[in-house]
Amino acid sequence: MPRPPLFQRARVARIVRETADAATFVLTPDGGPFTYRAGQFCTFRVAVDGVELLRSYSMSSAPETDGELMTTVKRVPTGRVSNWLLDNVTEGDSLELTRPFGVFCLRDTDAPLLGFAGGSGITPILSLAKSALASTSRTVRLLCADRSPDAALFEAALAGLAARHPGRFSYTRHYDSAAGFLDPAAIKDFVAGDGAADTYLCGPDPFMDLVETALPGPGKVFVERFGGTAPLPEPGDDLEGTVTIRLGRKKASVPRKDGETLLQSARRAGLAPPFSCEAGNCATCMAVVTDGSATMRVNDALEDDEVAEGYVLTCQAVPDTPDITVVWE
Ligand SMILES: Cc1cc2nc3c(=O)[nH]c(=O)nc-3n(C[C@H](O)[C@H](O)[C@H](O)COP(=O)(O)OP(=O)(O)OC[C@H]3O[C@@H](n4cnc5c(N)ncnc54)[C@H](O)[C@@H]3O)c2cc1C
Ligand code: FES
Repeated sequence: MPRPPLFQRARVARIVRETADAATFVLTPDGGPFTYRAGQFCTFRVAVDGVELLRSYSMSSAPETDGELMTTVKRVPTGRVSNWLLDNVTEGDSLELTRPFGVFCLRDTDAPLLGFAGGSGITPILSLAKSALASTSRTVRLLCADRSPDAALFEAALAGLAARHPGRFSYTRHYDSAAGFLDPAAIKDFVAGDGAADTYLCGPDPFMDLVETALPGPGKVFVERFGGTAPLPEPGDDLEGTVTIRLGRKKASVPRKDGETLLQSARRAGLAPPFSCEAGNCATCMAVVTDGSATMRVNDALEDDEVAEGYVLTCQAVPDTPDITVVWE
């Protein structure tokens, strides 16, 4: 079955101010019902001062519990898109967004669920918690870390879940302003007897590194990264073979280079395909390999069936075959 178009438009039905620096955008997709899984995200394409920018935002809604599609955006100091969305978008506006992506999703298990959320990282974790409570009998416990109480998102939603699911759902707040940064002992204390739980982790990189290191195991750990990572290595020498790129009506070829990603090859060929994180998180750079094959260094966005159909994150995909053709649809 053909995949739906990458981009579509949605109308902003409502904007819910969550804190001074965050708001939830309740969206009505123009194409009708929108199929997604809890924990996934969409990438928004906006024009800020005439420059097209792409940024991903996770769903704070869950398909099992919310009739409406919601994403929650938190302001990043000096951030171009988060500030533009929070300061310029009003109810009734139309936004452009991709179909949903992401693999930060529930798996089929009865294991307890632990969530560690730092700041805006609560967004996909709230979606996962709602989904797990509605569609399984799993217990769900969240540890939410924020700078201060006035920055903490979704207090009413979390309190509502606790009231509706006594004995199955609880959440603990940690405020840096009161207790300093979380430390490994606090994380181990929180996990307590749930070492075999599925653990979901989303927040600033130092927070995620701390939690990942402190987790006692042996449970499975799922991680969603909002920010970029270290820059990619520079490509090496020319290799035998050709990388052929098709982007819309444009077609170009360049000799293959050792370690060069398909996105880097496309840029070297003078083309400008879309991208955002360049870290394998957002799927904005997705394209399909129609001839040859490539391996992704990181894939935190595409699902197995998309990979099986030949889709790759071009910011992470390095050719395995001398000749390769990649097509941006
Ligand atoms: C899969 C995915 C899901 C995401 N989901 C959400 C979500 O649900 N809610 C949400 O608010 N954001 C989310 N993000 C982050 C979002 O996509 C943007 O990165 C963020 O809004 C900053 O974009 P900007 O244009 O405002 O800042 P930019 O102009 O890109 O960056 C400005 C400065 O802030 C730094 N920066 C960039 N991102 C962050 C960040 N996340 N935290 C702190 N500093 C940062 C940059 O290094 C730069 O110095 C998600 C990101 C990914 C990849
Ligand atoms: S640009 Fe984000 S996954 Fe490639």
